[in-house]
Amino acid sequence: MRAVDQRRDLVSALADFYVGHPDSERFPMLTVVGGLLAEALEDDAVVTTEPCGLPVTQLLEGIVADTGQPAIDRVLRAFTAAGPILHWVQTTEYAATLSQHFLDNYGYVRVIGPGGLVESDIASAGLGVWGAGLHYPRHEHPAEETYHLLHGSASFQRRAGPWVARAVGESVHHDPGEHHAQRFGDATCVLSWAWTGDVAINARLVPVDG
Ligand SMILES: [Fe+2]
Repeated sequence: MRAVDQRRDLVSALADFYVGHPDSERFPMLTVVGGLLAEALEDDAVVTTEPCGLPVTQLLEGIVADTGQPAIDRVLRAFTAAGPILHWVQTTEYAATLSQHFLDNYGYVRVIGPGGLVESDIASAGLGVWGAGLHYPRHEHPAEETYHLLHGSASFQRRAGPWVARAVGESVHHDPGEHHAQRFGDATCVLSWAWTGDVAINARLVPVDG
């Protein structure tokens, strides 16, 4: 598949994942994000971002699209196929704050949003990868957020609440400004994330008792 088609296939897979997703009844923001992705495909508005790899990119080799959930497997296949030509990033503050081990095993690709494969200033969504055993410290951002677990396993903490394990296909929703943290299981974890609202402001780490 040509590079331009690999990018387009990833946008298409994520659009199909969000459009009509059962969670969109609880989280209408997913309909907004899916609609913008589908619209971009119709308008041929997928752009060619500059390929930019990170150490975490090598973890894509261990990702197998065999979840048994067709929409997720399609996203994983499109993601791993396009992975080497995508523009991988890390949240700027994290690169200056977190351990080298974390930074070697973490990164994400923005499919829609500022600087994404689809440009938008009202929505941001894409795929993130975290290596086995990582702890993503407590953080917050002004955008509303829904995560979906696509590969591996992870536990999520909202505010100072209990840690809740999530399985592939399950989602976690965060209100704007809500503090949250994640712990990743014993396999490479892939999360899709979707943001709406103030998507231009990055996540920032917050103290554990903050
Ligand atoms: Fe978040």
